[in-house]
Order: sequence, then structure tokens, then C-alpha cells
Amino acid sequence: MSNTSSFAVERHPTPVAASERATLLENPGFGQLFTDHMVTMRWSEDAGWHDGKVSARKPIEMDPATAVLHYAQEIFEGMKAYRIEEGGSALFRPDRNAARFRSSARRLAMPELPDELFLEAIELLVETDADWIPPGEGAALYLRPFMFASEVFLGVRPAKEYLFVVIASSVGAYFKGGAAPISLWVSHDYNRAGPGGTGAAKCGGNYAASLLPHGQALSNGCDQVCFLDAATHEYIEELGGMNLFFVMEDGSLVTPPLTDTILEGITRDSLIQLARDAGHEVREEPYAFAQWMEDAQSGRCTETFACGTAAVVTPVGTVKSEKGTFTVGDGAKAGPTTVKLHQTLERIQRGESNDAHGWVKRLGES
Ligand code: PLP
Ligand code: COI
Repeated sequence: MSNTSSFAVERHPTPVAASERATLLENPGFGQLFTDHMVTMRWSEDAGWHDGKVSARKPIEMDPATAVLHYAQEIFEGMKAYRIEEGGSALFRPDRNAARFRSSARRLAMPELPDELFLEAIELLVETDADWIPPGEGAALYLRPFMFASEVFLGVRPAKEYLFVVIASSVGAYFKGGAAPISLWVSHDYNRAGPGGTGAAKCGGNYAASLLPHGQALSNGCDQVCFLDAATHEYIEELGGMNLFFVMEDGSLVTPPLTDTILEGITRDSLIQLARDAGHEVREEPYAFAQWMEDAQSGRCTETFACGTAAVVTPVGTVKSEKGTFTVGDGAKAGPTTVKLHQTLERIQRGESNDAHGWVKRLGES
């Protein structure tokens, strides 16, 4: 890191001891185990971006009238740092997260954090807490950059003060079953996003709207909720936190096209490229729920998988809805295209295979 850094580094006076950390890293779960440090930076109308620092992770004290608590002016990102076999760590396409963070900010009427500051903050935190990157298959350091309206004001208008924060969590697989297929509940009653809304932005409000139907998925014995388009309830959109792909018997792949109601997943974009590299035809086109049910039953749709930073590539087995229940493939294990794409992506992310597209950003050893 250059000595013209925009972030002062104040190291934790009493970080977790190495032996305790090693025990914690044996079974980190997802989003429960946090590192020693955090990054913060403020924005105000008068001063712009200022007061950047890396410091001990601690609670954020807030006035009860802080704008985000009332009007949810908040955005976030999700990305991972991987431990590299020959030493050091790597980020996967962090420039895309920086760009998406700016586009989410625009939609939520927030100031855009310049990419250089976003990337510097991420790299500094990974380098400071590199010892928290867990070893082992599927494990990584999950980074959660977020920004919220920190102005103390109850009027409804874009705030004039914001806090940008990055925290990090040592994680294993997102789903407890590892590579086992998940089950989906298709919601015919609730939408995640609507035309002209915030579906293409990564803002907390979208996830809040998904929680009631997610609860319905759980009470119907399913792992995740799958949303349909708000206008017609015919076409498949995405899950609460993952994009979807369908593999057809002729080897082609279908994924819903990007509209303003779908999050433009970086994993989605990477898998489209990797599938095309491997000779698959990939079509970004609307796919109706009724067609999916028919195709899964006839064997025309042989595999379905969900993808995202947290979930990587996760096969879908059983699909339930008020309109019927069906399985994709045999419903019990991942199909060959899902397995192949998963492996190809993970090997690139972990620096184990040729990075033909220049997606991997290597960081030094701590
Ligand atoms: N869709 C939603 C709603 C998400 O929250 C995520 C996760 O970030 C994704 C898709 C996948 O995006 P990415 O691959 O960039 O993690
Ligand atoms: C991610 O994949 O990074 C997300 O933000 C989605 C969430 C399910 C953790």
C-alpha cells in the first residue's frame, strides 16, 4: 500500500490470539465469525469523502433519529478473498463490485464512492486481517462493504452525511449441505422487486422485502424462495440472494435477462463467459415458470443451479409452489454441467488455474 493512503491504520490493541483464531477457523459457518478490524470513511456535503481509517472492529453508536433507521437509505456489496496455495490471497473481479456499489449508490440517491477508495479499503482490510482467511475447501474471507445515511434528520430527502464501512467474516459454505442440491419455494404471492424499483441495486430494502416469502419457503420445507416477475408472475427472475441458470438437454444454458428487477450478478456474468468458453450456447432470455416445470418433467431441462458470491454454484433439486412440485434431474445430486462450471470457477478464484480473463487480483502475504 502506498504511503499516500486515504486510510489511517490504527491496529487493534488486543486482537484475538493466534491459537484461539485457529480454533474458530476450523468451523466458521457463514457470517457469524468476524475479524479484528473494520474500515470506515465518512462523507458529508461540505467535506466530501474524509476520515478514512482501519481500526478495531466495534459497535457503531447511532442517534435514534439517524436517517437509515427510518428510510433504509443503505447499500452493500458481497465479495470474497481467497487463500492462495503458493502464499498470499486473491480477490475475484473486485472492480465489478466497486462499479456496482456506485450504481447502487446512484439508485439510492447516495454519493458515489470512487473505485480507487473502494478497492483500497478492501485491500487494506484483507491485508490487515489476512490471518483470518480460513484454510480448507470452500472457505474464504467474506467482505461486506456497506454505506448508509448517517445524518440525524427525520425529513424525507437524500441525507447529507453517510458512513462507508467494510467488515470481514471468515466463512465456510453458505449452505450447510455443501454441494447437495437445495430446494426452492416459488412465490406466486410476493415480489422481490418491481419495474422502476430498486431490484437491480444491492440495497438492504430488497432483502427486507424478501424475508416474509423466505419464511414461507422455510415453512414449506424449502431452502430458498424463487421470485417471478412482478408484472405477469409468469417469468422466473432470481432468488433472494442468487441468480439462476437452467441447463437444457442439448447442452445450452438459459438465464433470465437483466432488467431493472434483477441484480446483475458478478458470478452470473463470469459463468456466462466460462460456459461459452467451454462451448455451451448461453441464452439470456425470459423463461416461464410453467415452461420450466414442463421441461423438468419432460427431461428437456436437465439441471438448474443458483449462483452468487456467497453460494458460488449451488444445484437446485426440488421445486415447490402452489402450482405444483417437481424435481430437476434426479433431484438428489448436482448434474455434470453444474459440477464442471463450479469447479472451473472455483479453481480460477483460488488461483489454481489459468486466469484467461484477468479476473483475479492477487494481494501480497501479510
Ligand atoms: N442476486 C441477488 C439478489 C444477490 O443478492 C446476489 C448476491 O450478491 C446475487 C444475485 C449474485 O451476485 P454476485 O454473483 O455478484 O454475488
Ligand atoms: C452475496 O452472495 O454476497 C450476497 O450478498 C447474498 C447473500 C445471500 C449473502
